[in-house]
Amino acid sequence: MSDTSDCPPELLAEELQQELLKFARVAQGQAYVPYSKFPVGAAVLDEHGKIHTGCNVENASYPLGTCAESGALSAMVLAGGRQVRAVLVVGDGEALVTPCGGCRQKLREFAAADLPVLVADRQHIRHWFTMGELLPSSFGPDNLAMTREPNGPAG
Ligand code: THU
Repeated sequence: MSDTSDCPPELLAEELQQELLKFARVAQGQAYVPYSKFPVGAAVLDEHGKIHTGCNVENASYPLGTCAESGALSAMVLAGGRQVRAVLVVGDGEALVTPCGGCRQKLREFAAADLPVLVADRQHIRHWFTMGELLPSSFGPDNLAMTREPNGPAG
Protein backbone atom coordinates (compact mmCIF):
# COMPACT_ATOMS: atom_id res chain seq x y z
CA MET A 1 0.00 0.00 0.00
CA SER A 2 1.31 3.46 -0.78
CA ASP A 3 2.52 5.39 2.24
CA THR A 4 0.20 8.31 1.76
CA SER A 5 -3.51 8.36 1.07
CA ASP A 6 -3.06 11.30 -1.32
CA CYS A 7 -2.24 10.57 -4.92
CA PRO A 8 0.52 13.07 -5.81
CA PRO A 9 -0.69 15.81 -8.18
CA GLU A 10 2.32 15.26 -10.45
CA LEU A 11 0.95 11.79 -11.13
CA LEU A 12 -2.65 12.91 -11.52
CA ALA A 13 -3.79 16.53 -11.22
CA GLU A 14 -6.03 17.21 -8.25
CA GLU A 15 -8.85 18.50 -10.50
CA LEU A 16 -8.74 15.28 -12.50
CA GLN A 17 -8.91 13.22 -9.33
CA GLN A 18 -12.02 15.10 -8.26
CA GLU A 19 -13.49 14.82 -11.75
CA LEU A 20 -13.02 11.05 -11.68
CA LEU A 21 -14.73 10.89 -8.30
CA LYS A 22 -17.66 12.90 -9.63
CA PHE A 23 -18.11 10.65 -12.64
CA ALA A 24 -17.68 7.43 -10.66
CA ARG A 25 -20.24 8.57 -8.12
CA VAL A 26 -22.82 9.16 -10.84
CA ALA A 27 -22.07 5.69 -12.21
CA GLN A 28 -22.41 4.19 -8.74
CA GLY A 29 -25.91 5.65 -8.63
CA GLN A 30 -26.83 3.60 -11.71
CA ALA A 31 -25.62 0.26 -10.32
CA TYR A 32 -28.00 -2.70 -10.63
CA VAL A 33 -27.43 -4.52 -7.36
CA PRO A 34 -30.64 -6.23 -6.18
CA TYR A 35 -28.65 -9.10 -4.63
CA SER A 36 -25.62 -7.61 -2.91
CA LYS A 37 -27.11 -4.13 -2.38
CA PHE A 38 -23.51 -3.01 -2.80
CA PRO A 39 -23.31 -0.39 -5.55
CA VAL A 40 -19.93 0.30 -7.08
CA GLY A 41 -18.94 2.91 -9.62
CA ALA A 42 -15.74 3.18 -11.64
CA ALA A 43 -14.23 5.89 -13.83
CA VAL A 44 -11.26 5.42 -16.12
CA LEU A 45 -9.26 8.17 -17.79
CA ASP A 46 -7.95 7.19 -21.21
CA GLU A 47 -5.00 8.37 -23.30
CA HIS A 48 -7.21 10.98 -25.01
CA GLY A 49 -8.14 12.56 -21.71
CA LYS A 50 -11.67 11.15 -21.86
CA ILE A 51 -13.40 9.66 -18.83
CA HIS A 52 -15.47 6.48 -19.17
CA THR A 53 -17.63 5.03 -16.45
CA GLY A 54 -19.18 1.77 -15.38
CA CYS A 55 -21.27 0.31 -12.60
CA ASN A 56 -21.78 -3.22 -11.35
CA VAL A 57 -24.60 -5.13 -13.00
CA GLU A 58 -25.74 -8.21 -11.09
CA ASN A 59 -27.71 -11.20 -12.32
CA ALA A 60 -30.14 -13.73 -10.84
CA SER A 61 -27.51 -16.24 -11.91
CA TYR A 62 -25.05 -14.76 -9.44
CA PRO A 63 -21.69 -15.55 -11.10
CA LEU A 64 -22.73 -13.73 -14.25
CA GLY A 65 -22.76 -10.33 -12.59
CA THR A 66 -20.19 -7.84 -13.83
CA CYS A 67 -18.07 -5.36 -11.92
CA ALA A 68 -18.01 -1.59 -12.31
CA GLU A 69 -14.41 -1.60 -13.59
CA SER A 70 -15.31 -4.08 -16.28
CA GLY A 71 -18.13 -1.86 -17.52
CA ALA A 72 -15.90 1.21 -17.57
CA LEU A 73 -13.26 -0.62 -19.59
CA SER A 74 -15.85 -1.76 -22.12
CA ALA A 75 -17.06 1.81 -22.50
CA MET A 76 -13.49 2.99 -23.01
CA VAL A 77 -12.74 0.43 -25.69
CA LEU A 78 -16.01 1.15 -27.45
CA ALA A 79 -15.07 4.85 -27.55
CA GLY A 80 -11.64 4.08 -29.02
CA GLY A 81 -9.52 4.29 -25.87
CA ARG A 82 -6.72 1.75 -25.57
CA GLN A 83 -4.73 2.97 -22.58
CA VAL A 84 -5.88 3.58 -19.05
CA ARG A 85 -4.06 6.52 -17.47
CA ALA A 86 -5.97 6.55 -14.18
CA VAL A 87 -8.82 4.70 -12.54
CA LEU A 88 -11.03 5.47 -9.59
CA VAL A 89 -13.40 3.05 -7.86
CA VAL A 90 -16.09 4.23 -5.48
CA GLY A 91 -17.94 2.01 -3.03
CA ASP A 92 -19.50 2.19 0.41
CA GLY A 93 -18.53 0.75 3.77
CA GLU A 94 -15.57 0.83 6.06
CA ALA A 95 -13.25 -1.38 4.07
CA LEU A 96 -11.53 0.04 0.99
CA VAL A 97 -13.30 -1.04 -2.20
CA THR A 98 -10.26 -2.09 -4.16
CA PRO A 99 -10.67 -3.77 -7.56
CA CYS A 100 -11.29 -7.50 -7.31
CA GLY A 101 -8.69 -9.91 -8.65
CA GLY A 102 -10.37 -10.36 -12.01
CA CYS A 103 -10.69 -6.62 -12.51
CA ARG A 104 -7.02 -6.12 -11.68
CA GLN A 105 -6.15 -8.37 -14.59
CA LYS A 106 -8.68 -6.61 -16.84
CA LEU A 107 -7.18 -3.23 -15.98
CA ARG A 108 -3.66 -4.58 -16.47
CA GLU A 109 -4.42 -5.23 -20.13
CA PHE A 110 -4.60 -1.48 -20.77
CA ALA A 111 -2.32 -0.14 -18.06
CA ALA A 112 1.29 0.35 -17.09
CA ALA A 113 2.64 -0.73 -13.71
CA ASP A 114 2.61 2.90 -12.51
CA LEU A 115 -1.10 3.38 -13.26
CA PRO A 116 -2.69 5.19 -10.31
CA VAL A 117 -5.70 3.28 -8.94
CA LEU A 118 -7.72 5.50 -6.62
CA VAL A 119 -10.20 4.14 -4.10
CA ALA A 120 -12.95 6.37 -2.79
CA ASP A 121 -16.14 6.58 -0.83
CA ARG A 122 -18.91 8.94 -1.93
CA GLN A 123 -17.23 11.90 -0.27
CA HIS A 124 -13.49 11.42 -0.52
CA ILE A 125 -10.64 9.72 -2.22
CA ARG A 126 -9.45 7.43 0.55
CA HIS A 127 -6.37 5.79 -0.82
CA TRP A 128 -4.37 5.13 -3.93
CA PHE A 129 -2.28 2.26 -5.22
CA THR A 130 -0.28 1.61 -8.32
CA MET A 131 -1.29 -1.16 -10.69
CA GLY A 132 2.02 -2.84 -9.86
CA GLU A 133 1.16 -2.90 -6.18
CA LEU A 134 -2.24 -4.43 -6.83
CA LEU A 135 -1.01 -6.98 -9.35
CA PRO A 136 2.71 -7.64 -8.98
CA SER A 137 4.63 -9.82 -11.43
CA SER A 138 1.63 -9.74 -13.71
CA PHE A 139 1.02 -11.45 -17.00
CA GLY A 140 0.10 -9.08 -19.81
CA PRO A 141 0.17 -8.38 -23.53
CA ASP A 142 3.98 -8.15 -23.51
CA ASN A 143 4.24 -11.80 -22.55
CA LEU A 144 2.41 -12.80 -25.70
CA ALA A 145 4.31 -10.34 -27.89
CA MET A 146 7.53 -12.13 -26.94
CA THR A 147 6.48 -15.41 -28.54
CA ARG A 148 7.38 -15.66 -32.20
CA GLU A 149 5.40 -18.64 -33.31
CA PRO A 150 1.61 -18.59 -33.19
CA ASN A 151 1.29 -22.06 -31.65
CA GLY A 152 4.55 -22.66 -29.94
CA PRO A 153 7.19 -21.27 -27.65
CA ALA A 154 9.60 -18.57 -28.74
CA GLY A 155 12.52 -20.16 -30.54
N1 THU B 1 -17.73 -5.20 -7.25
C1 THU B 1 -17.34 -4.33 -8.23
O1 THU B 1 -18.15 -3.86 -9.03
N2 THU B 1 -16.02 -4.00 -8.28
C2 THU B 1 -15.07 -4.44 -7.43
O2 THU B 1 -13.91 -4.21 -7.63
C3 THU B 1 -15.48 -5.19 -6.23
C4 THU B 1 -16.82 -5.80 -6.30
C5 THU B 1 -19.14 -5.58 -7.18
C6 THU B 1 -19.44 -6.98 -7.62
C7 THU B 1 -20.77 -7.23 -6.92
O3 THU B 1 -21.81 -6.73 -7.73
C8 THU B 1 -20.69 -6.40 -5.66
O4 THU B 1 -19.63 -5.48 -5.87
C9 THU B 1 -20.44 -7.20 -4.41
O5 THU B 1 -19.35 -8.02 -4.57
